[in-house]
Amino acid sequence: MNVWRRLSGRRRAVALAGASALVAGGLVTLPVTAAHAATQCDVAYTTNDWQGGFTANVTIRNVGDALSNWTLGFTFPDANQRLVQGWSARWSQSGRNVTAQNESWNGNLATGASTSIGFNGSWSGSNPKPTSFTVNGVTCNGGTPPTSTPPTSTPPTSTPPTSTPPTSTPPTSTPPTSPPPPGTRVDNPYLNAQGYVNPEWKAKAESVAGGNRVSNISTAVWIDRIAAIEGTDNSQSNGPMGIRDHLDEALEQGADYIQFVIYNLPGRDCAALASNGELQADELPKYKAEYIDPIAAIQGDAKYRDIRIINIIEVDSLPNLVTNTSGNPGGTVMCDTVKANGAYVQGVGYALAQLGAFSNVYNYVDAGHHGWLGWDSNFTPTAQILKEAATASGSTVNHVHGFITNTANYSALIEPYAKVTDSVNGQTVRQSDWIDWNQYNDEQSFAQAFRQELVRQGFPSSIGMLIDTSRNGWGGPNRPTSAGPTTNVNTYVDGGRVDRRIHKGNWCNQSGAGMGERPKAAPASGIDAYVWAKPPGESDGSSREIPNNDGKGFDRMCDPTYTGNDRNGNSMSGALPDAPISGAWFAAQFAELMANAYPPLS
Ligand code: GLC
Repeated sequence: MNVWRRLSGRRRAVALAGASALVAGGLVTLPVTAAHAATQCDVAYTTNDWQGGFTANVTIRNVGDALSNWTLGFTFPDANQRLVQGWSARWSQSGRNVTAQNESWNGNLATGASTSIGFNGSWSGSNPKPTSFTVNGVTCNGGTPPTSTPPTSTPPTSTPPTSTPPTSTPPTSTPPTSPPPPGTRVDNPYLNAQGYVNPEWKAKAESVAGGNRVSNISTAVWIDRIAAIEGTDNSQSNGPMGIRDHLDEALEQGADYIQFVIYNLPGRDCAALASNGELQADELPKYKAEYIDPIAAIQGDAKYRDIRIINIIEVDSLPNLVTNTSGNPGGTVMCDTVKANGAYVQGVGYALAQLGAFSNVYNYVDAGHHGWLGWDSNFTPTAQILKEAATASGSTVNHVHGFITNTANYSALIEPYAKVTDSVNGQTVRQSDWIDWNQYNDEQSFAQAFRQELVRQGFPSSIGMLIDTSRNGWGGPNRPTSAGPTTNVNTYVDGGRVDRRIHKGNWCNQSGAGMGERPKAAPASGIDAYVWAKPPGESDGSSREIPNNDGKGFDRMCDPTYTGNDRNGNSMSGALPDAPISGAWFAAQFAELMANAYPPLS
């Protein structure tokens, strides 16, 4: 799992220039709620037409309260009008509906301020102008052209403007003043709460010297196969305890919360091999009836209503539908199949609807990580597909409590010496090989920005993020203590970055990694908690082919001799040698993760 799938810099530039990058998808939903009731706006829409094509310049003037982000919506009057490529906003089209969301650098719009954006389009027959516009879901008054002629904006020929991080920050959650009645859903289930210690993981951790320093940390319980529900299987990733056993033990411990990873979609891990699962692509009915329904029956048992049950839903699945389907470098047949047959979207929707029906259950949907989704071409489309899944199979956005990023990945939480906003000799560090035009260079900044994007897409503003910090510590003797030399952007970034991977696309058993922040509630604005979702010491995949009965394949990204592919810039895999199959205990990795922990273990 957790194969990384962005487009390489060169290929991505090609894809961005093509029509498909913007027209594909068809998943946009106009905001249904008025995020800013006081929004008032004037929109001027002018076009320059030629046979079959046109350039549209759109000027949005804010005549209401100041905005920190905006989404423009309009509907093409003619079914043949198409958005081809836009600029200065994140553009997308679904049916006749077009949306443009601000970029990070132009989201702030003071009262009376204007901003100009535009796009190239195509038409046949006629090219009528849209007659009505919305900003943040509210219809603009007037729609009269601004008094001065809008500046003629030209599409950027090469790179987008340097982005600055969003200036507005979501509210931090505050503890409830009095304890809520049992079973009532709270804003942040981690706050002032003690997490469940999985005895099966604890025993494995204590089998390694020094493991008792971390063995009482709460880690998630992965339900990675049907047999794991009852705990009757003898796979390499699970012990004999089933979900009821864990819940009963949690009651014994007096734990306030327990975390499960719901991880068994049909055609699982569609872009990689190491965590392929037991269900075939066409087994959605079995996923519902034999996997989700029995889990729901247990989680809904009144016996457990006083414990907060946190579900991490289907790691890596939905982002794969955006970045690893055809049209993308490295797109796979399996990702195409599960996109086309709805297995992932419907499966996630069903899990959310069934499990989210209980008031003590909290669903957090997996949302990839910055080194995968931090490019504009992946960011908004992924938020849109998350929204689509959250409203599929009877689910609503209210069945989602939040999202988790970096699950089982290694992305640094914070890069103290290499910020995307830095520049060296007048050049933005975004053009370094390591950052490669990503809008983010660490996980926390991404999680916070992605949260805002999800709210823009229609999730409630109460959603919170989790970040898996189990293996993103990057401490030890090689951790830089200052920025790199300012010779050029590469020396600066490479000398200062704490994430010591060879390439951000590397995801399997990374050499040099350490345990990260210990689980912590409300550590930063918009973040519900740092959590340990991937239990440290459990392998990401075998370093060579190992026959097994668990359905696990061999992915060369786990082979330390592999020289890579398009998804990791044709770099070495950076994987540790002698690894067992994914989920199986890997003592040598556990020892290294402790040695390189950051903050260090005492
Ligand atoms: C991997 C494995 C899975 C295991 C999980 C946690 O995704 O495929 O079997 O439960 O990691 O270690």
